[in-house]
Order: sequence, then structure tokens, then C-alpha cells
Amino acid sequence: MTYKLLLTPGDGIGPEVIEDTKRVLGWFAKNRNMAFETEEAAIGGIAYETLGTPEPDATIEKAKKADAVLFGAVGGPQWDKLPFDKKPERGLLRLRKDLGLFANLRPAICFDALKDASSLKPELVSGLDILIVRELTGGVYFGEPKEITTLADGQQRAVDTQVYTTSEIERIARVAFELARVRGNKVCSAEKNNVMVSGVLWKQVVQKVHDAEYPDVALSHMLADAMAMQLVRAPKQFDVIVTDNLFGDILSDEAAQLTGSLGMLPSASLGAKDADGKQLALYEPIHGSAPDIAGKGVANPIACILSFAMCLRYSLGRGEDATLLEKAVERALAEGYRTPDIMQDGMTKVGTAEMTAQIMKALDKST
Ligand code: IPM
Ligand code: MG
Repeated sequence: MTYKLLLTPGDGIGPEVIEDTKRVLGWFAKNRNMAFETEEAAIGGIAYETLGTPEPDATIEKAKKADAVLFGAVGGPQWDKLPFDKKPERGLLRLRKDLGLFANLRPAICFDALKDASSLKPELVSGLDILIVRELTGGVYFGEPKEITTLADGQQRAVDTQVYTTSEIERIARVAFELARVRGNKVCSAEKNNVMVSGVLWKQVVQKVHDAEYPDVALSHMLADAMAMQLVRAPKQFDVIVTDNLFGDILSDEAAQLTGSLGMLPSASLGAKDADGKQLALYEPIHGSAPDIAGKGVANPIACILSFAMCLRYSLGRGEDATLLEKAVERALAEGYRTPDIMQDGMTKVGTAEMTAQIMKALDKST
């Protein structure tokens, strides 16, 4: 079986972590009876520099044809002054929108080896395993109007629009309920129905989908601000969290930090299955471009490598291989290897390439 993967390294540490993930791909090709056809395409700041746009049409088209996209990161201070529509982030947002990647899966898992790295007490986070299901193609990120206009009195007025339709809420709710069924069977939905009508509709629709199709799953609702508080008070009460694009952006950063390091966490962005069963997908470390450490060979490759594990599971139907890779990451951590972002006393500090080498060694040992 040959899988077609599009690699979009992007900016900052993106190229470094993608490079190392390619080595892991090579391990699976060699040892696990699978073949990859990979191609690289420009996105973000580097695409702006070389092609004049952060969202090249050619990249979008290639992404639509691939079995999956492995995305590095976009952005950096050198592009801060660009106009809004030329910013590196546009590339990522267009990929999400044009590929219809409405379901963003962001696991926040606390690896046992790292429970002391969290800013919370170890007993609060040890064993933590939350899955945030974030709506990714609607809400205030894409709602129209989205503009800055000048008023008669000379001041400016900025508008973003928060908008959701029934079907947009239904489909993300279904993703959350389906995933809950194969985990802890619990969903908590977050919105702000006390101030936003989009929140009123969100809550109603999630409840309706639950009652009609998933009565076996335990559903609760929480205001998004209360959830932000509960995530640091007692994070282990959550199993699957479902929420909109903006709340999901914020709550997933918070959940990620609970686990000790942003450098550890992967994500998957999935579209709907078409009539032939093909589902567009993009896999991405959630850490971003980290320009301060780019090019130094010290970036933590784990989030990107675990994103490939999610790709194995969700796009390539290779759940066993995904587990193999996740276990290898855990083993390398248990053996004490740490990149600087997760370094602790008594551990062995390694750079990007050495961390990857240790994960591949752990893979060797496991087969
Ligand atoms: C994320 C990021 C993006 C977002 C940025 C880079 C556009 O913060 O994936 O969480 O806001 O969605
Ligand atoms: Mg974010």
C-alpha cells in the first residue's frame, strides 16, 4: 500500500520537525510493510518570500490530492508588519477552509515521565487524557462581515462575526460523540449561551444530536469561562470536550500546558468522508513556529512525530502502527531523553535529531 503525503514544513522550527518526522516515516516504510510517496510544498511566511503569497493555489491543490498533509508550522516576527491578508497564518487558515477540515482533534495527554513538568501539581495531571474536539472552519474565524471601516466621525470600527448553522454544529457534535464512544464515553460541550445567541443554538443542537443519536454517551454543558477554570482546578473530570473555533483555540492551549509542554502535543484536522470514503486530513504539531529556537537543532520533534501517529490512525487505517509509535515515544521519555523544553534534573538533554534517533531505537526494540 502506497500512501501519498504532502509535507508543508513552513516556518521557524517547522522544517526541522518535519525533517525528523520524515526519518520516522522511513522507519515505517522499511519495517512495517508500507510505502510513502512524499512531496513538499510551500506555505506561510516562506511561501510569501518565495512566491509572494502565504497561501499558494498549487499547495492547496496538492493538499486536496494527498492522502494526508503533514504540516510543520507558520509564522515569525519578520512577518508581523505584513498586511492581514499576507500574514503566514493565512496559509493555514485557507488549507483548513478549502479542504473543509471542520473537525480538529487535540489530545492533551500527560505522559507519566513528564508529570512533574506540568505547572500543576503532579496528582492533578498524572494520567490526564483529554480530547478537545474543536470546530475548525466556522465561527468567528471565518464569519462575514470581517472588516475595519471608517466611520463618519473619523474613528475606525472593526467587526468579526461569530456565526454557526445547525448543520455545522451537528457534524462536529457527531465527531465528538463518536470519539467519546471509543474512549471514556463522556462529552462536555462548551459555549457562552449566557451572552451569545450562537451559544444558545450550539447548546440546543448538541443536546438534540445527543438525545436522538447518542443517548448512551454522558453529555454535560459548561460555559466556556467556567471550563477554563475547571481545566486548571480538576482537569481529569473531562474526557471529550467539544467547542467552537475560538473557544477551542483558547481552551486547547490551556489544556496543552497542563501536560507540561506544548512541544509534546499533536493534532489532527479532518474533513467529511466523501462518497468513495476519502477524507481530507491535515496533521500538525500544536506548538507553532517557535522562532526563538529555530535553526538551532533543539526543537522538540515529539509533537510532529505524534502527529504522524495520528495520521497513521485516522488517515491510513494503521491503528496498530500508531500505537507502536506512541509507545516508542513514551519509552524514549522513560529512558530519560529530553529536549531542552522538557528538560528535568537527572535526565539526558538531547537535541532534535538525537531525540528522534532515540524514538527510532525504541521502535527497533519494540518489533
Ligand atoms: C492554532 C493556532 C492558529 C489558530 C493560528 C496560527 C492561526 O493558534 O492552530 O491553534 O488560531 O487556529
Ligand atoms: Mg491556537
